[in-house]
Amino acid sequence: MASADVRNIVILTGAGVSAESGVATFRGPDGLWEGHRVEDVATPEAFVRDPALVHQFYDARRARLGEVEPNAAHRALARLDAEWPGELLIVTQNVDDLHERAGAKRLLHMHGELTSAWCLACDERFPWRGPMAPSAVCPEPVEGLSCSSSGAREGQSFDKLRTDGSVNRCPSCETVGMVRPDIVWFGEMPYEMERIDEALTKADLFVSIGTSGAVYPAAGFVQTARYCGARTLEINLEPSQGSIFFDERHYGPAGVEVPKWVTELVDNMA
Ligand code: APR
Repeated sequence: MASADVRNIVILTGAGVSAESGVATFRGPDGLWEGHRVEDVATPEAFVRDPALVHQFYDARRARLGEVEPNAAHRALARLDAEWPGELLIVTQNVDDLHERAGAKRLLHMHGELTSAWCLACDERFPWRGPMAPSAVCPEPVEGLSCSSSGAREGQSFDKLRTDGSVNRCPSCETVGMVRPDIVWFGEMPYEMERIDEALTKADLFVSIGTSGAVYPAAGFVQTARYCGARTLEINLEPSQGSIFFDERHYGPAGVEVPKWVTELVDNMA
């Protein structure tokens, strides 16, 4: 694929791009869903049913961000972003912050971000670094409320029961206990679909990196891009579910294959 023919690039990334940083993928043997059914932690219904469990699941993932670093694939994509003179959009399904920590700017998180919070009381979104979950231990009893009456399991409590009220308080409207992870759960609409669709229709090259192609609408981007005339490239450890829709396929670790591809593209820039 000669870079002279390419001006507009859309790159879709998935969990595989962060795997070599030590972030577990979703559907691999050490997958994140292991031990949890998707419906128990990644749906709005799960959050209503057991907010403590959902908070704990995402708090653990948010805390993990402090222990991982961007890898060679993130850095190569950031280099491409900095050097590519044409249009470029990196659409990530990942909720980690490794693309931006590597320096990527033309980036969009279609499934939300671990470092963002959403207040269900006032509808504001804002940065969030610490835990959102209730305190680990049931605090002093509050009149009319107890761990059991709140629905929390033994040894747990909701944040609204905390005596200090320091966690899960919206910085905008100050409501306590209504802040949720700003993550797009199953059954919810991914972010910025209009912008993504527009970029896909204009793309000369669509590249899918480290995604199994199991989750729509992202899994359908390759077909939209193809239909609108883009060449398509897959970089993954193994063929994805949509591998037949790609004109070119590079199978291997993202930390090796992505820098190789970026170097080739940038070195051959017209
Ligand atoms: N390099 C390249 N690819 C890799 C690597 C690696 N080092 N390690 C794993 N992979 C590949 C796997 O072979 C798999 O095809 O990355 C893919 C990861 O697939 P999933 O775990 O299904 O992750 P993803 O496609 O991002 O999931 C999509 O599903 O659950 C939802 O919202 C969640 O955004 C997520 C969406």
